[in-house]
Amino acid sequence: MLLLDGKVASQAVKKELMIATGELIDQGKRPPHLAAVLVGNNGASETYVAGKVKFCAEIGYQSTLVRYADTIEEKELLDKIAELNKDDTVDGILVQLPLPKQISEAKVIDSISPDKDVDGFHPVSVGRLVQGLDTFIPATPFGILLMLEHFNLETKGKHAVVIGRSNIVGRPMSILLSSHIKYGNCTVTLCHSHTKNLAELTQQADIVVAALGRPEFVKANMIKEGAIIIDVGITRVDDISAPKGYRIKGDIDFKSVSEKASALTPVPGGVGLMTIAGLMKNTMNAYLRRQEQVID
Ligand code: GUN
Repeated sequence: MLLLDGKVASQAVKKELMIATGELIDQGKRPPHLAAVLVGNNGASETYVAGKVKFCAEIGYQSTLVRYADTIEEKELLDKIAELNKDDTVDGILVQLPLPKQISEAKVIDSISPDKDVDGFHPVSVGRLVQGLDTFIPATPFGILLMLEHFNLETKGKHAVVIGRSNIVGRPMSILLSSHIKYGNCTVTLCHSHTKNLAELTQQADIVVAALGRPEFVKANMIKEGAIIIDVGITRVDDISAPKGYRIKGDIDFKSVSEKASALTPVPGGVGLMTIAGLMKNTMNAYLRRQEQVID
């Protein structure tokens, strides 16, 4: 079985972006700049945003972290996004989700300039993705494509089963895998909480992407011998024997599935690292596109 190691694949992207940033600096230009907005102190969100800021520092990007208490009013957040939209030195804006109940996620996503929408969540970005136009691909599906590319895994003509229909992962992943792109051209089945006979479908899959957020949900008896398995799950499961009091579990039962799959992503150390790599590629692309338009 081939272990789809996110450390190895993300390192390759990191190196590529580090070189590209170095070249910009050598030409006397500023580096790409990502602004991350974090509301509240959700533990998982804190970890993700810290990882993004750290990655920026490592590849030479500028980053700005804007933090708010979870009591913030929607207007204050929208005003901040308007300010970041206008700021010519900011190339990419991301607002870490989820947001507190008093704030409409849809309104917030809608308020980000599509030119700076490095998460690829804006309806303009999603519409362009569906139409096969150049766009910002949401970071996790983008990271999965980069993983498939790094390990040179053929997808054309295969049957891919995606479990989960979220706007962040499952739905865009299903669109990309069915798109006419290098690591697409699959026949795709998108499964969700109302799918009947899920195991019957996953047993027919050459590729399974599990993004439902239920720890160790996919067992060996649900997959076909030799399938490629991509685990997007990252659930914190209480474990008093772990140093932090919890362990991160994926949606795949790694132990049993690793004996049957031909390729499998670990959790942690798999898709999570690729998500950040995808975001950073989007930020570089936002920078390059904006440089063509911004007259300085
Ligand atoms: N919450 C979970 N995943 C993501 C992501 O990729 N981007 C943002 N902004 N929030 C998230």
